[in-house]
Amino acid sequence: MNPSNPIHSFSPTGEKFQLPSQEDYSTEFEQLKEMVNHQRALKREIVVVMGLGFVGAVMAAVVADAQDGNGNPAKFVIGMQRPSTRSFWKIPLINRGLSPISSEDPEVALIISRCVNEKKTLTATFSYDALKFADVVIVDVQCDYLKESLGNVRNGRAEMEALEESFEIIASHISPETLVLIETTVAPGTTEQIAYPIMKKVFKKRGINGDPLLAHSFERVMPGKNYVASIRDLWRVCSGVNKEATSRVVKFLKEVINTEKYPLTVLDRPIESETAKIVENSFRATILAFLDEWSLFAEQNGVDLIKVINAIKVRPTHDNMIFPGPGIGGYCLPKDGGLGLWAYRHIHGFEDDIFKITPLAIDINDTRGLHVAQLTRDALRNMGRPLASAEILILGASYREDVGDTRYSGSELIVRRLTEMGAELRVHDPYILHWWEFERQDEYPASSHSLKRFFRGQEKLKDLRVEQDLRKALKGADAVILAVRHKPYLTLDPDEVVQNAGGPIAVVDCFGILDDHKIRRYFELGCEVKGLGRGHVKRIKDQVKTQATQ
Ligand SMILES: NC(=O)c1ccc[n+]([C@@H]2O[C@H](COP(=O)([O-])OP(=O)(O)OC[C@H]3O[C@@H](n4cnc5c(N)ncnc54)[C@H](O)[C@@H]3O)[C@@H](O)[C@H]2O)c1
Repeated sequence: MNPSNPIHSFSPTGEKFQLPSQEDYSTEFEQLKEMVNHQRALKREIVVVMGLGFVGAVMAAVVADAQDGNGNPAKFVIGMQRPSTRSFWKIPLINRGLSPISSEDPEVALIISRCVNEKKTLTATFSYDALKFADVVIVDVQCDYLKESLGNVRNGRAEMEALEESFEIIASHISPETLVLIETTVAPGTTEQIAYPIMKKVFKKRGINGDPLLAHSFERVMPGKNYVASIRDLWRVCSGVNKEATSRVVKFLKEVINTEKYPLTVLDRPIESETAKIVENSFRATILAFLDEWSLFAEQNGVDLIKVINAIKVRPTHDNMIFPGPGIGGYCLPKDGGLGLWAYRHIHGFEDDIFKITPLAIDINDTRGLHVAQLTRDALRNMGRPLASAEILILGASYREDVGDTRYSGSELIVRRLTEMGAELRVHDPYILHWWEFERQDEYPASSHSLKRFFRGQEKLKDLRVEQDLRKALKGADAVILAVRHKPYLTLDPDEVVQNAGGPIAVVDCFGILDDHKIRRYFELGCEVKGLGRGHVKRIKDQVKTQATQ
């Protein structure tokens, strides 16, 4: 808890909510009981979703929106969130029918408001007592991976505390017939070797002899324009600890997910479902990391890697090749491979070091943004401007285009390194109001997780604010870093940029945003241009110079 304000939780818009007191729990229980009795009379299954974060809040709404064969609501969902100062506010917001997540997908707000206010199939609570009513519990709490150094994922560990605590709480409240579906991305082996024994022990204490009905099915949710569809209308993989758990999870997912169009894959054991998630994301992290060295090769040898990739992608066998931008962020890709490494040693007890590519890929992706600081330094130096005290504008704070999600974005690393080198940073992002990684850098995403730890001179960054007006942001800038392929940045006109900046600037393109025509124009306007993987800019620069002297 925040010692300066121990009894309140603040929403992202600053609304203050008082945390529940001891007396509130008995009132809450009576209210839940009444709701559940009413819903049971309507023959609805009671589903408790534990953890109302980016995944749980929307999954809860998708389940609450599910219909039976006659088009009637099939489930009543109680979203359960622990009353921490950081997250309690999500409960009153959901109970008003408001989404706790700001999303580019309009369906997120619609589905939550529909289920809370119209269908009345969704409510949220802070009380673990909700678990007593559950036919199904869905676990959507986080399982983070804490990195102890920058660029070395091996030096880290899975943070199992929230998850382990959840299993204990669940087992001490649920009935033995309750299906517990773990959706959290976990270290492979967690369902059978961590959740199962924890729950079994608690069951024993309660005099319950049966096995907990545990299953795993991971989320493939993609924050962005298709947020809801990426939960409801996408292929699922699942597995249970025994036959009954497997048939229960298959039945449940068929009732709530669009499995007719997107068939389920049922695997033999939960460790296979857990491994599928980790391999899926490590594969993606690896194909992105692989291009880092070719990006440097391109810069040093006059090659435009963007054109090279486009030439290769024509071949259907290689059409998922993607340019990595200034780093690979989002919540999942930077951590999931780490969970695999950690599991091999700490769950399964192996001492040998079989992992080479998975950790290397994460380390490369985690540090790729640092090179952008070098490009910026060099571009400014070519213009005779020292980096220290230069005004640098970064365009885009999100981890990918057209989303308002800053978690582990490459842009954060760029800002931190350039600040360390003495530059003054400003930021513009049309999708972000607050860049919490800076504004609350001492506690967000957690005090032990902030990348601030790895850089010096970061204190002033808590005052970094996201400018919404691009013209204002550009005024007086010495350098502009195009960091994210947000739509508005793709059409920026060099003449207007330079005019708004008030003169020639250094332009650093991190994501193949500039075509050759624009690069040429920037040079004609007296700017300096550099870009990740864009070795051909030097050629364009020389052409412009030659033309000018002719
Ligand atoms: N966010 C994504 O894009 C994404 C995509 C695919 C998979 N996943 C996986 O889904 C899982 C959840 O991710 P997320 O982004 O929703 O995390 P999150 O941190 O946004 O949400 C987790 C929530 O669980 C709550 N919580 C923790 N302990 C609790 C407890 N004991 N009781 C009740 N609530 C508790 C937290 O307060 C928080 O609100 C992770 O394993 C993640 O890897 C996430």
